[in-house]
Amino acid sequence: MPTDTSTTQAAPLNQSRRAWWQGTYKGDIYRHAQGEIVRADALHCLESLRESCADIVFLDPPFNLGKKYGKNGSRHDRKKESEYLEYMGKVIARSATVLKEGGALYLYHIPTWAIRLSPYLERHLNFRHWIAISMKNSFVRGDYLYPAHYALLYYTKDKPTVFNRPKVPKPICSRCKKDLRDYGGYKGYVAHGINLSDVWDDVSPVRHRKTKTRAANELPLVIPERVITISGCSGGLVVDPFAGSGTTILAAMAAGMQFVAADCESEYCGLMHNRVSEYLSGKGSH
Ligand SMILES: C[S@@+](CC[C@H](N)C(=O)[O-])C[C@H]1O[C@@H](n2cnc3c(N)ncnc32)[C@H](O)[C@@H]1O
Repeated sequence: MPTDTSTTQAAPLNQSRRAWWQGTYKGDIYRHAQGEIVRADALHCLESLRESCADIVFLDPPFNLGKKYGKNGSRHDRKKESEYLEYMGKVIARSATVLKEGGALYLYHIPTWAIRLSPYLERHLNFRHWIAISMKNSFVRGDYLYPAHYALLYYTKDKPTVFNRPKVPKPICSRCKKDLRDYGGYKGYVAHGINLSDVWDDVSPVRHRKTKTRAANELPLVIPERVITISGCSGGLVVDPFAGSGTTILAAMAAGMQFVAADCESEYCGLMHNRVSEYLSGKGSH
């Protein structure tokens, strides 16, 4: 684990000329050796980045469900449908511009919005996968089925430059410790794990009060870790313009990637900065 904390600072800087910005970026910036955290609107951050600078753009926006973010829940996440679509359309278009040729964009959302946002993605990028992430922490509503998955849409700008297919452990019976599935004559091929599919049913939501970094929908670390395993490269750049508690940053740093993370809430930017500093000093939980 890296131990260099010499480049972290207590208060935000107010300008930066790091290579990913077009000219000088002005605003509240927390700088680390591997990247920067800015307090900014997501679109403003994306518009300030150079074209074709990012290997991965990871979008985990507010879901427009009326959730409260910010100090004492001061910011409501509920826009008119047309306004939300227009804003997200711009975020997606600019994300595509910021991506390198062959770079990957991931959008994490509920299916209702993933389906409505896919035409915007289709305009700029190539579809690779709708990854269904099983998450049984919701409630059945009205005349609908019980919603039990989130969508992780995976697109690339032209053909992917990097594509790794992760292996995951075989499902094992908790009682007898034998394989849950019958692999027939292929047992030898799966001895060291099975290929990750587009259904991720082994991800648990971050629940525990001690480990949940804050109230803004912290993602389980395994999600950005897998994204980075699939599409990342050491020294490359990950951009997360709705970064929340900074889960993507930790996954990026662990993989030797650089990062630019934005959040409009200064509280969350400070929190991300502390989380990164703790990680670098070896104290932080992932
Ligand atoms: C779903 S959370 C992201 C959680 C994050 N992936 C994590 O693992 O912690 C969405 C975040 O976007 C931030 N946000 C909402 N609107 C924004 C905007 N227009 N620009 C930048 N950040 C925004 C919220 O403050 C919140 O922290």
